[in-house]
Amino acid sequence: MPPHHIAPPDHRTAGTTGDLPRVRTADEARAAVRILLPALAEGVIRRRRWAMATAERLQADRGAIDTLRDLRARYGAGPLWLPAGGRSLVLLLDSGDLARGLRETPEPFSPATPEKRRALEQFQPHGSLISRGAPRAVRRRLNELALDTPHPLHRVAPAVAGRVREEAAEVAARATRDGLDWDLFARGWWRSVRRIVLGDAARDAHDLTRRLAGLRAAGNWSLLHPRRRLARAEFLVRLQRYAFQAGADTLAGQLHLGDTGPEADPVGQVPHWLFAFDAAGMATLRALALLAGHPEAAARARAELTGADLAAPAPLPFLRACVLESVRLWPTTPVLLRESTEPTRWGDATVSRGTAFAAFTPYFHRAEPGGSYGDRFEPDIWLDGRAAENPALVPFSAGPGVCPGENVVLLTASTWLGVLLSGRTFTLDSPVRPHPRAPIPATLNHFGLRFTARRG
Ligand code: HEM
Repeated sequence: MPPHHIAPPDHRTAGTTGDLPRVRTADEARAAVRILLPALAEGVIRRRRWAMATAERLQADRGAIDTLRDLRARYGAGPLWLPAGGRSLVLLLDSGDLARGLRETPEPFSPATPEKRRALEQFQPHGSLISRGAPRAVRRRLNELALDTPHPLHRVAPAVAGRVREEAAEVAARATRDGLDWDLFARGWWRSVRRIVLGDAARDAHDLTRRLAGLRAAGNWSLLHPRRRLARAEFLVRLQRYAFQAGADTLAGQLHLGDTGPEADPVGQVPHWLFAFDAAGMATLRALALLAGHPEAAARARAELTGADLAAPAPLPFLRACVLESVRLWPTTPVLLRESTEPTRWGDATVSRGTAFAAFTPYFHRAEPGGSYGDRFEPDIWLDGRAAENPALVPFSAGPGVCPGENVVLLTASTWLGVLLSGRTFTLDSPVRPHPRAPIPATLNHFGLRFTARRG
């Protein structure tokens, strides 16, 4: 029987999702408590420290992954109708369906869902991700040009590497004395990010990042939070000042390469970049935690660094693969959300326009049949073609809505790791430690990571 025709335990045809299996009320409640609630509590747009610590203690993502695995075993692999709070929501459980949703973006599966729009509008009213129609096409293209999407080494990679080297070296020196935690790392990380995006004049513009953090915190509440229009205007005015002065060796300085007409709003794309670099910082420190717990991999990383001149941009394929493993094991976009712009067919079922489709990526990355590496740290999958073959692995999404910043992230993160690891060994002191003899923890609180750094 094809997956979309499996008779569900509680099959109803009422509502907008036609003949799709609908989860039983008890399962609906379980999904809300074990999947939706932890993700919302942790903060989708800006992570909350207390919630991340609690989620790590409870290993919340393990519960969510197991719940989805169980739903798939009982209802079949096809899309599952899960009415949530009055919203017509379809859960995707099969990597083929996920691939379709991503391939058919932005039409008929738009990334600009009302929830995402309200959340991101708090600080990026004209961002590509929340735009539709012609403005989306122009803004998407502009992002691709400015971020030099297809190239592993961005055209301003020498400036990126140089800036990272300076900021990371300062953090590394402090870490060797005092140890490394999130706060020390994040201070240096943000200095490097502001310099990479906006130029050296923005190095100490902590105020800009703080204002953005406040708006992102409001974004966590999505539809439930009123728009903070004044705070947003104040943030955008400050951002514009830096962006207009940004030199040609910065990411903002690359925005002139595309259509800069009013529909494009070039500077209006930059808030998303700054926001998303936070995720890149989490991924970098978590990659360091993986390496600290896997001495053989750390030795391979150091071998890659021998002779590499980090002031010049280096490809560092192994360290890039470690960062990709970090976002596979702990995706920083845990829910990929789409909304259908027209009725769509799924097997025999027709699902009406305006339905939300959700894919929970921690489940796909670890539990979707097809990868024996699920709960292990195995960077080689990104080097030997196994990851490319598996449509379930989408830490940077895929298809026409794939993250246009992936290569910039991998360049920045691998260079940071390269500087930290050059001549230094890191060991993890915080209680949750990934290592090869146990499944990699499903939830890792980046705020709680603490390392000792030794020379040698
Ligand atoms: C670890 C770091 C990052 C990860 C894992 C990541 C992942 C993603 C994912 C999954 C999406 C699709 C979101 C969706 O469909 O709702 C996305 C979109 C996007 N990302 Fe990233 N991202 C990262 C960092 C960055 C950075 C640093 C930039 C810019 C410098 C960036 C620029 C963008 C843009 C502009 C979009 C929207 C694309 C569109 O409108 O089609 N990302 N990213």
